[in-house]
Order: sequence, then C-alpha cells, then structure tokens
Amino acid sequence: MGCHGANAVGNVLGGHTLIINSPTNGENFAVCKPCHPSATSFDISGAQTTITGLYNALKLKLATFGMLDTVNMVIKPKKYAQADLAVYWNFMLIYADRSIGVHNYQYTHDLLVAGNANFTAKGY
Ligand code: HEC
Repeated sequence: MGCHGANAVGNVLGGHTLIINSPTNGENFAVCKPCHPSATSFDISGAQTTITGLYNALKLKLATFGMLDTVNMVIKPKKYAQADLAVYWNFMLIYADRSIGVHNYQYTHDLLVAGNANFTAKGY
C-alpha cells in the first residue's frame, strides 16, 4: 500500500484510480497515518500552509514582474535574465507537481524561498 495505491474507496479513491483526494470523499489521509499517526489532513505540521503562502507570494511577484500570465499559467514571451528564468522554471515545477509540498517538502520550500528572495532583491 502506497500513498497513490491505497485500498479502494468505491471507484473514487485509491485502488486502480491512483487518486488520493476527491471532491466527495476529501483527502485520503488514512494512508499517511502509519507514518504520521496524528495526521488529520494532508497539511501535516502545517507544511502545506507554509508552502501555499510561499507559492502565492512568488506567484504574485512573477505576475507583478510581468513574467507570469496567471490566467493561462504560461510565461509572457520576452527576453529575461537567466536567474529570473530559473525562478520561473522552478515555480512551474512546483505548480505542475500539485502536491503542495508533500513530495519533497524541504526542496520545495527552499526553491520557493530562493525564488521569492530573487524578486524581493529587485523590489518586487
Ligand atoms: C512510509 C512512511 C510515510 C508515509 C506513508 C507518509 N509519510 Fe510523510 N514523511 C515521512 C518521513 C520519514 C518524513 C520526513 C520527516 C523528517 O524529515 O523529519 C515525512 C515528511 C512529510 C512532510 C514534510 C513535513 C514534515 O513534517 O517533515 C509532509 C508534508 C508529509 N510527510 C506529508 C505526508 C502526507 C500528506 C502523507 C500521506 C499522503 C504522507 N506524508 C505519508 C514518512 C511518510
């Protein structure tokens, strides 16, 4: 049994669906309990709250800087500095990952902190 291969809950969670949360059944945090016994959601130790705050801050900076189209979640074509493109790339990896810090929390956290610092240093 793994996080994406938990016991099936009908055809909405676990089993062959590989789905780990659903609008009707919510988060299947029972699969986290063997290792995180006190888990009551995926937001273990407030990790997802922290990542959401850092992610939203960076998203706003990328948009204000004029780099991110937040409607289509794509880059606005223009010539950018290498460091800014690196931040954009890392941001999109985290966006596409969709786990909000559950996959590789510390790495996700540090990429977002560094990305925010890059644009804070530019006055964004
Ligand atoms: C097989 C054991 C195992 C399972 C199952 C598991 N985790 Fe973890 N998880 C860990 C370990 C080990 C760490 C690292 C703890 C550390 O580095 O201090 C960790 C760390 C985390 C962190 C980083 C924050 C922290 O407290 O260190 C988050 C968030 C997290 N897990 C979420 C989840 C979620 C959500 C699930 C269920 C979908 C889950 N985990 C299932 C073992 C597991």
